[in-house]
Amino acid sequence: MKVLGIETSCDETATAVVENGRKIRSNVVASQIDIHARYGGIVPEVASRQHLLTIIPVINRAMVEAEVTWQDIDGVAVTYGPGLAGSLLVGVNTAKAIAWAKNLPVVGINHLEAHIYANWLGNDRVPVFPCLCLIVSGGHSDLILMKGQGQFKKLGRTRDDAAGEALDKAARILGLGYPGGPAIEQAAKHGTPCFTFPRAWLRGSYDFSFSGLKTSLWHLAQREQISQADAAASFQWAIVDVLVGKTVEAAKQLGVKQIVLSGGVTANQKLRKHFVDCAPVPVLIPPPHLCTDNAAMVAACGYYHLQTGESSNYELDVVPSLSLG
Ligand code: KG4
Ligand code: ZN
Repeated sequence: MKVLGIETSCDETATAVVENGRKIRSNVVASQIDIHARYGGIVPEVASRQHLLTIIPVINRAMVEAEVTWQDIDGVAVTYGPGLAGSLLVGVNTAKAIAWAKNLPVVGINHLEAHIYANWLGNDRVPVFPCLCLIVSGGHSDLILMKGQGQFKKLGRTRDDAAGEALDKAARILGLGYPGGPAIEQAAKHGTPCFTFPRAWLRGSYDFSFSGLKTSLWHLAQREQISQADAAASFQWAIVDVLVGKTVEAAKQLGVKQIVLSGGVTANQKLRKHFVDCAPVPVLIPPPHLCTDNAAMVAACGYYHLQTGESSNYELDVVPSLSLG
């Protein structure tokens, strides 16, 4: 079964063709980073207008690179939430139009669930349940227990800033540019984690909190002349320490068989290494280019939904505040 995936929830216009939920035939990502960088963050109205300009060429490219025609496609999977309303609308309406014109089933996909499915793309790894999923991106820091295909129970979430959001804000404070996660990671390579930032462990809860950490960096940067590299290394380490510490603790308490990581922040090498060093069970992490937003993960997730006969009808609408579990 070949599925066309479409992802426009934020600032990437992404399309992909994936075979049987695993084999990536094409994976096209048109990033808007350069456009938003001059504003220091994503401007929603600009993002949706850019998706409109890019979506059709990017779909055509995914079809050409996959060497398929519409006759080869068995279904369309599209992210319908969470995300920016105007951006999601472009993907959802395009997917519905294609489904109608080509007489294909269309299925609406939860972006967070799609991130998890990036782990089973392009390899022979299989999910072993129950597993503990950590989704850390620009908008989310969620800890989710996955008991089986499609069975999710949210255990914890961020109470304020998401991990990626905190990294983006920290980079802005340090004058490192946008997006902040990769900029902090680069700067941190030349520094040492010599500043001790406060950690919100929130003992007894699976929730996270990162806004105090960001405020602490802001105060430090106001007070003294700090090395960008040392501050970046210290900030990155504080985030990694809490994400790994709390997830590993939860994995032990719940007796899960695997830890499954996903979302843009899991592209971070320090985080990846520390997880592997500390985890009591095998850790699955997608390759970095599949951690950040892409449509291959949407198509992979769509395959599992379409396989069960599930499909959305033309009433499918965007749900910007959609959650998982
Ligand atoms: O999953 P994603 O691409 O988009 C959302 O769904 O939000 O995640 C984007 C987030 C941004 O906050 C970005 O700064 C962060 O992931 N990120 C990273 C790295 N690459 C992207 N954070 C830390 N290290 C990285 N290498
Ligand atoms: Zn994402």
